[in-house]
Amino acid sequence: MSILVLSEKRGQVFEIILNRAEKKNALTLAMYAELVALLRQAASDDTVHVVLIRGEGRAFSAGNDIGDFVACAGDQDGISIIIEFLHTLAAFEKPVVAVVQGDAVGIGTTMMLHCDLVMAADDLRCQMPFVKLGLIPEGGSTLLLPQLLGQRKAFELLVEGRRFDAETAESIGLVNQTLAPEKLLETARSRAADLAGMPAEAVKISKRLMKQAYLEQLHRVMDDEGERFYQRLFSEEARAAFSAFLQQKS
Ligand code: COA
Repeated sequence: MSILVLSEKRGQVFEIILNRAEKKNALTLAMYAELVALLRQAASDDTVHVVLIRGEGRAFSAGNDIGDFVACAGDQDGISIIIEFLHTLAAFEKPVVAVVQGDAVGIGTTMMLHCDLVMAADDLRCQMPFVKLGLIPEGGSTLLLPQLLGQRKAFELLVEGRRFDAETAESIGLVNQTLAPEKLLETARSRAADLAGMPAEAVKISKRLMKQAYLEQLHRVMDDEGERFYQRLFSEEARAAFSAFLQQKS
């Protein structure tokens, strides 16, 4: 494992930590591979009852690493690890707690749709700017967000890519609890530990029952989104948006 994704076991809670703070925890393909491996490790360890995912530094995650997108155009296998990560997270049987603060962009936001508890700092700023980048939304968000919000509100967030804050995230049901940044991790750890202390089998079965009606459809939608997302990576629109981002930073 690299130092860009860390893990730590605290009692029955397995913490997965995005550790690329200087790049706002933007996710490289190698980081996705590590996330998948860590989720599998947590799934097969009977002493782990809950997974907690968090990001070091001031941002939860700036989403996919744009430089990696440019580098992997033409290599569908390369980006398939992103889809694998999303499938693994969506199908994960044990509860997943996300601890989010600052910027949560792209998959930094869509990931939350697959977590069971999302604890946020009051400085959270979510955005799904896929379409502005010439891409299409991923992570099953084209299915789950319209279900959560209805077509029109979902369109604002997914297609117009409007940024929204912690208060809005909580009001639309994307976040369970909003806290001052200095209280966030301590409170989330305590809630995760309480959850981990509950009857583990009963928790797992309940989670499965809550998701089983739509999980198969969700996997299909993710594959469909993934295929189209990959095709969009080569589009003129996306290439222009990536160059603009990379030039603005150079
Ligand atoms: N891919 C690659 N690098 C990224 C990145 C991403 N998605 N997001 C941030 N970074 C890098 C920046 O290039 C910068 O690198 P540098 O210090 O070498 O110049 C560093 O992370 C810090 O980012 P910066 O933009 O200076 O921080 P900020 O606080 O001003 O803004 C964001 C934070 C998240 C709003 C801004 O970085 C951003 O919009 N990132 C792109 C988000 C995005 O479009 N994600 C893809 C979705 S599919």
